[in-house]
Amino acid sequence: MNSRDDLTTPGKAVEVAPGVHWIGAMDPDLRTFDIILKTANGTTYNSYLVRGDDGVAVIDTVKAGFQGEFFARLESVADYSEIRTIVLNHLEPDHSGALPELMRRAPQASLYISKRATSMLKALLKPNQGGFEYQRADTGDRIELGGRTLRFLHTPFLHWPDTQCTYLEEEGVLFSGDIFGCHYCDSRLFNDRAGDFRFSFDYYYAHIMRPFKSHVREALALIGPLKLNLVAPAHGPVLRDRPRRYVNRYRELSAPSIDAEMGEDERSFLIFYMSSYGNTARMAESVADGAESVAGVRISLYDLEGGEVEPFADLIEEADALAFGSPTINGDAVKPVWDLLSSLTVIDLRGKVGAAFGSYGWSGEAVSMVEDRLRGLKLRVPVQGKRIKLVPTEDELEECRSFGRQVAQALVGEGGASRVFDMADLG
Ligand code: FEO
Repeated sequence: MNSRDDLTTPGKAVEVAPGVHWIGAMDPDLRTFDIILKTANGTTYNSYLVRGDDGVAVIDTVKAGFQGEFFARLESVADYSEIRTIVLNHLEPDHSGALPELMRRAPQASLYISKRATSMLKALLKPNQGGFEYQRADTGDRIELGGRTLRFLHTPFLHWPDTQCTYLEEEGVLFSGDIFGCHYCDSRLFNDRAGDFRFSFDYYYAHIMRPFKSHVREALALIGPLKLNLVAPAHGPVLRDRPRRYVNRYRELSAPSIDAEMGEDERSFLIFYMSSYGNTARMAESVADGAESVAGVRISLYDLEGGEVEPFADLIEEADALAFGSPTINGDAVKPVWDLLSSLTVIDLRGKVGAAFGSYGWSGEAVSMVEDRLRGLKLRVPVQGKRIKLVPTEDELEECRSFGRQVAQALVGEGGASRVFDMADLG
């Protein structure tokens, strides 16, 4: 036995539950996944094989470059002629890469994908790779393998529209796809043997699942009642020791937290600003004063000079309205504002109210640039941005109060503020 007790000998499947084998692949050298995710520990592409009295099911495959490892493990526990069923919980290429070759080797097998996956299947597996027959699965649909029953749970947008989970009823095994996964490659395979992967688990959630929090909560409603002896995700350790912990962690991470701070009928309006000479700061104060005058709206004002960007993401996620104040410098909004806006891609901002304002010297592009970005992030921008040339007069500060009031009124549905739709809203 070596120091890390290598469970994943090349060419050998690993039994993870009675009659259930891990037949995936290890990618320890990966450091960047999908361009945006870092991993200090590589990743795994987990695939599983379930044996029933009447045949074998393969659940998910691996990334194309790793299919040799996958097929060698598969062949250690089954013949291709035994494969009756292939399930793809998610069609992203890290899980569908070996599908064409698997279908070629097991042409008798039926392929099951989620009801939302059809167009993706066609787009990912082009005609020159063969047209596949497939079945579309929905929540509650079952496959009988002979003493083994696979049941589907439709869990869309975690993190693609097509994603689903598959539950092996007799053993209480949830094949969860990317849900409960993480990029952490450890040849000890199981959560009670692998190194401490809590950071990777939370990091994966934050970057992959967090933008779809409401869908996470819907999926947890489906998963919650299941008896869980094992959670078998598509990446990272197989969760056999107290698997319910990981469900509960998702519950914590996806729960709204601002409720404890806000009154039941209050809406949260956050105003962020950056100021060179105090002019945009004075505008921000006036915008806040105006917004504060609208009943049911709680204002928070933040000078970005005094804060790191990252902690604001949690507040923004649960806020109802956001305003950003930036001076225009060299024809652009200032970097701290862009840094904050660029950090928001992991958050679902759809439908929040957005606004922009700022002082400028001669051209004043920052406000419209920020507004465009807000629309791109799917916020509503119901009130045209407020620009003031250099030092605001008292009349101009009153205009800022009016601006803040209009944005707040749009938030609570008062004042007849006209709603400006982004074209993307109409698609
Ligand atoms: Fe692991 Fe979304 O693919």
